[in-house]
Amino acid sequence: MPGGGPVVDTRDVINDQSCNKCHDEINFHGGSRRGLPTCILCHTPAYEDVTNVNPETGNTIDMRVMVHKIHMGAQLPSVKGGKPYFIVGFGNSVNDYSKVNIPSEPNNCAKCHDTNATQAAAHLTRPSRAACGACHDDVNFATGEGHANGLPQANDNNCAVCHIPQGETDFDASIRGAHVDPQESSLIGGVVGDILSVENTRAGERPVVTFTLKDRMGNLLEPARLNRVALIMAGPTTDYGDGLPTKGGYVSESAINATVTSSGYRYTFNQAIPADAKGTFSIGMEARRQETIFGGTLRERAIQSGSPNKVVHFSVDGSAVVPRRKVVDLQKCNDCHRQLSLHGENRNSTEICVMCHNPRETDVARRPADKGTPEAVDFGLMIHRIHGGARQSRDFTIYGFGNTPHNFNAVRFPADLDNCLNCHVPGTYNVPVAARLDKNDPRGLITPTVKPAAAACGGCHTSRDAAAHALVNTSPLGESCAVCHGPNASLSVDRVHAR
Ligand code: HEC
Ligand code: HEC
Ligand code: HEC
Ligand code: HEC
Ligand code: HEC
Ligand code: HEC
Ligand code: HEC
Ligand code: HEC
Ligand code: HEC
Ligand code: HEC
Repeated sequence: MPGGGPVVDTRDVINDQSCNKCHDEINFHGGSRRGLPTCILCHTPAYEDVTNVNPETGNTIDMRVMVHKIHMGAQLPSVKGGKPYFIVGFGNSVNDYSKVNIPSEPNNCAKCHDTNATQAAAHLTRPSRAACGACHDDVNFATGEGHANGLPQANDNNCAVCHIPQGETDFDASIRGAHVDPQESSLIGGVVGDILSVENTRAGERPVVTFTLKDRMGNLLEPARLNRVALIMAGPTTDYGDGLPTKGGYVSESAINATVTSSGYRYTFNQAIPADAKGTFSIGMEARRQETIFGGTLRERAIQSGSPNKVVHFSVDGSAVVPRRKVVDLQKCNDCHRQLSLHGENRNSTEICVMCHNPRETDVARRPADKGTPEAVDFGLMIHRIHGGARQSRDFTIYGFGNTPHNFNAVRFPADLDNCLNCHVPGTYNVPVAARLDKNDPRGLITPTVKPAAAACGGCHTSRDAAAHALVNTSPLGESCAVCHGPNASLSVDRVHAR
């Protein structure tokens, strides 16, 4: 207060912590400007004021508009319509955000509009043409085009009359209702699966699994009412990949016709545990349900939701049960991702991903014959390559369900890629690597198989030089990386990636 006395009014809509779930630290313009309170001193809401319009593009740099647009990125109606979204900045640099995909999805307002700020509810109580129209840039409020059957709005006075914070049902015109994530809607029952027990767990036997399926309120569901219920078996936990004599070394069986018992449903695997199996094996469960809401009305829609995956471990030879090593923390993935969910809502836990995305598996089953050599899908290799996206020197395309290509070369990672702890559990990203098996990497530089450390480091360091360096430091005795990059060595992984 220039005249003295206590400060009575501050602007605190979003706390830096919210941005830093994905960014290591919000800073810009060469790093000299740090934290949102600084940004908004210049990036002001001067919507109709030409001084805050980027002269080259006509795009405003009002924070409400710019940040919404940057993160809506590839999903902006204008971008989808063929008009790139960019801002010309310092030194006439063109900063194009047309390929940005925010892993939490832009309709997940709470990722940024968290509860920590003083005015945390501003996004629910202060709707405006600038803030809402930033993402919904196909709405012309002056003419009403694209807005509620052509309803024009000359100013912001009435927005909050109709767009209230929360209405009576999900998917209404209220701000929460309009942006609710279908999978989290209160209008669906969802599905939650649990494995109660596994019997016949010795080498040579066919495991018998007893499981339950309930909706989120705890009511029992029959398997036949779901779209999919499957049980996956893999082993041994020292490194999945060669435990079963199947393609990929694991098996997935449908349990939709499981028998009903008093304690739950029972399913007997067709696949037996091999007679010579040793150590610990694992069984994981996935389930998916489709429900229709607003049935029989114009708003009718179908929503698919998946059960949180459950994974259990058991000994096949009487030795002590040793769960598979935990390398990454799902909670850290979900700081950026809304909720990791792949393969049609079936799979959402890194514990189940690694059962199939093992060192031996590739996309051979889905890659059309005329698309060349298969691509590796080993979890570490694949996840490093996906997030390295735009920085890597190689093409990375995996063919998935329906023989559809998924290309990851445009992925822009919002954090520092050398901050291993954004994904990893402390102590799990060092050399020597705990993995036991070499990895199939038929499209790699070191091919057809690559040793564990060369694979892990090479997932991000994709240059020929780096691959050659890894190769010359590999002998018939194994990889020598730890000599120089080990935890106590002069070029330790922590030291070379210090930020
Ligand atoms: C859910 C993840 C997520 C959150 C939360 C998030 N961002 Fe981003 N942000 C991204 C991604 C992805 C990109 C594109 C990759 C990149 O350029 O860093 C990006 C890009 C940006 C850019 C452009 C960076 C550049 O190099 O040009 C700015 C500025 C930005 N974000 C600011 C913010 C602010 C401010 C907040 C908090 C209000 C925020 N972000 C919250 C994911 C996120
Ligand atoms: C001193 C005023 C000022 C501050 C503080 C400021 N900016 Fe900017 N920023 C600008 C101006 C002006 C532009 C328009 C382009 C230009 O003239 O360089 C801009 C442009 C941008 C762009 C567009 C891309 C580019 O490279 O120009 C982004 C993104 C951005 N700022 C993010 C931020 C973030 C995030 C913060 C806070 C950490 C911030 N700015 C702090 C003045 C500022
Ligand atoms: C990537 C981060 C991010 C996401 C996601 C996001 N916002 Fe925002 N939002 C911002 C920033 C940054 C501001 C400006 C804060 C400031 O000026 O202090 C803002 C401001 C607003 C404002 C203006 C508040 C005011 O005081 O004028 C509204 C309204 C708003 N957001 C609505 C939404 C809605 C609705 C969603 C979800 C559909 C959403 N936002 C998603 C970052 C985000
Ligand atoms: C950060 C981007 C973002 C902001 C800001 C934003 N929305 Fe949305 N909005 C979305 C997305 C994404 C959807 C889902 C679109 C879809 O599923 O096709 C959506 C959906 C809607 C819908 C449902 C109808 C439809 O198009 O599917 C309404 C109504 C709506 N938004 C109103 C608003 C209002 C009012 C505001 C301002 C308070 C706002 N939005 C701010 C991204 C945003
Ligand atoms: C008289 C009520 C009313 C008023 C006033 C109103 N809206 Fe809407 N608006 C609606 C309805 C109804 C929809 C359609 C909701 C749906 O499709 O689920 C809508 C849809 C929208 C959408 C989503 C458009 C899309 O992409 O489908 C946005 C964004 C929006 N309004 C913003 C605003 C803003 C900003 C204001 C103030 C300038 C405003 N509205 C004033 C009733 C209103
Ligand atoms: C710092 C933010 C961040 C973290 C942490 C993060 N991711 Fe991502 N992830 C991204 C971005 C950005 C994309 C690209 C989004 C896009 O293009 O749709 C992405 C894409 C993916 C994809 C590609 C498929 C998809 O959903 O688009 C997978 C799979 C994935 N991430 C898995 C993971 C796993 C597993 C972890 C944790 C071990 C993780 N991510 C941690 C930011 C992050
Ligand atoms: C039952 C085995 C299985 C499980 C469990 C599994 N995947 Fe996959 N996934 C595959 C196979 C095999 C491929 C290669 C293409 C194909 O055959 O579908 C693949 C392909 C992919 C792709 C690239 C193509 C696409 O469809 O997007 C991504 C990304 C992916 N998986 C991520 C994950 C993540 C993340 C998890 C855990 C949350 C997971 N997968 C769990 C077997 C599995
Ligand atoms: C975006 C998420 C992400 C980031 C960031 C990341 N990793 Fe990884 N990393 C993974 C995943 C996922 C795996 C495979 C996990 C598994 O097999 O359980 C992995 C595996 C590894 C492994 C093999 C571990 C083992 O036991 O098999 C090493 C070594 C490794 N990463 C090193 C690093 C280093 C060094 C960094 C930082 C410079 C880093 N990673 C950053 C996701 C990430
Ligand atoms: C998740 C991606 C990722 C993984 C995995 C990773 N690195 Fe890096 N590494 C980086 C990034 C980013 C830098 C910073 C320099 C840059 O931008 O290229 C870096 C820098 C380095 C440097 C410094 C020299 C240089 O190129 O700047 C060395 C040495 C290095 N890494 C070794 C390793 C070793 C050894 C491993 C395996 C244990 C590994 N890295 C795994 C991303 C990764
Ligand atoms: C005799 C010591 C030594 C051994 C053994 C060694 N490295 Fe290195 N490594 C280095 C030096 C020196 C650099 C360059 C460091 C720098 O630029 O800061 C380096 C750099 C790297 C880089 C970064 C390359 C780049 O520029 O992108 C990677 C990745 C790497 N090493 C992986 C490995 C792997 C994997 C192994 C084992 C197969 C290994 N190293 C064995 C000394 C060694």
